[in-house]
Amino acid sequence: MKLLSEIDVSQKRVFLRADLDVPIEEFAVDPSKTRLASGGSSQFTEATRLQNLRPTVDYLFENGADKVIIGGHLDRPKGFDPALSTKQLLEPLERILGQEIVFSSQLKSSVNREPTTDNHIVLLENLRFWPGEVKNDQTFAQQLAKLADVYINEAFGNCHRSHSSMVALPALLPHAAGLHLEKEIEELTGILKDPKKPFVAIVGGAKIETKLPLVENLAKIADLVLVGGELPIEIRQKNMKLKENVLVAQLTEDGKDINQESIDAFIQKIKTAQTIVWNGPLGLFEEGYKKGTIEIAQAILKSPAYEIIGGGETVQFLIEHQLLSKFSFVSSGGGAMLEFLSGEKLPGIKALE
Ligand code: 3PG
Repeated sequence: MKLLSEIDVSQKRVFLRADLDVPIEEFAVDPSKTRLASGGSSQFTEATRLQNLRPTVDYLFENGADKVIIGGHLDRPKGFDPALSTKQLLEPLERILGQEIVFSSQLKSSVNREPTTDNHIVLLENLRFWPGEVKNDQTFAQQLAKLADVYINEAFGNCHRSHSSMVALPALLPHAAGLHLEKEIEELTGILKDPKKPFVAIVGGAKIETKLPLVENLAKIADLVLVGGELPIEIRQKNMKLKENVLVAQLTEDGKDINQESIDAFIQKIKTAQTIVWNGPLGLFEEGYKKGTIEIAQAILKSPAYEIIGGGETVQFLIEHQLLSKFSFVSSGGGAMLEFLSGEKLPGIKALE
């Protein structure tokens, strides 16, 4: 994989593929939370995927880049949807990056070549508003490629998607991994190659279609996989037979959290783990069903394990409970982290080779 230090960005327009898929209600509630506090930044600031962009953006300008064009997606829009416009991220990004940013809803006009003093960073509209993005469409990639001279991937969280801005686009431009992506890969490769045993993986939350196949893959490298969230419902409905080292939680009667018996059983396994990878809340915490997730989070922190957590909802939950900074490593990927750890080569990373 090509690294940022290996390509010349001087006088170049850089397309920076970013992880913009963040819970936007966080900004609506308290936009000031993204402010960088000198000396001690808030947990929120540390957590957000947006924050991960800062070192790479700083590096690019320090090394003479003309312009940085930030492109990414927010959620899963079906066509243009103002509620999912990346324009909402303009202010938080300006605060995090410490610079004025120009928003562009088009893939041309304001993203031209002239360097100006006050408009070095351009934020593009949600790339998934264009149908070509999720189809890994070549024509869409060519449109994006015209905006820039160099491509940098700083979107580990989306590297499991064969989308146009992740795969087709880097093939058209000199490309490299951003500084955070490099760090993610280093960290996760360490776990993949030599996890301290026992290695326990915990998988919860939604996005069942992404996670279900990964549970079986993870069971090949982890000693134990604990499964909660929405997955147990699907597993039982489909009467799926999983590997013996996959422990599927029993749910409460309303199906919105894991039950006490499963909480206790999971805690017993977590107690002795040396490596824990966790993605996805165990219950519907956004509706107030938090008991399972809180108890499991506390048990993980009490264990002697090296803990890696990832995924938007998990991170959001831990921020809300002031627990995030206590974990050893916070991955910016949810599905991408699980897929990487289950030994799969992610298309977005392959595209950088
Ligand atoms: C994520 O948050 O996992 C990534 O942004 C990918 O999102 P997706 O599951 O909607 O493709």
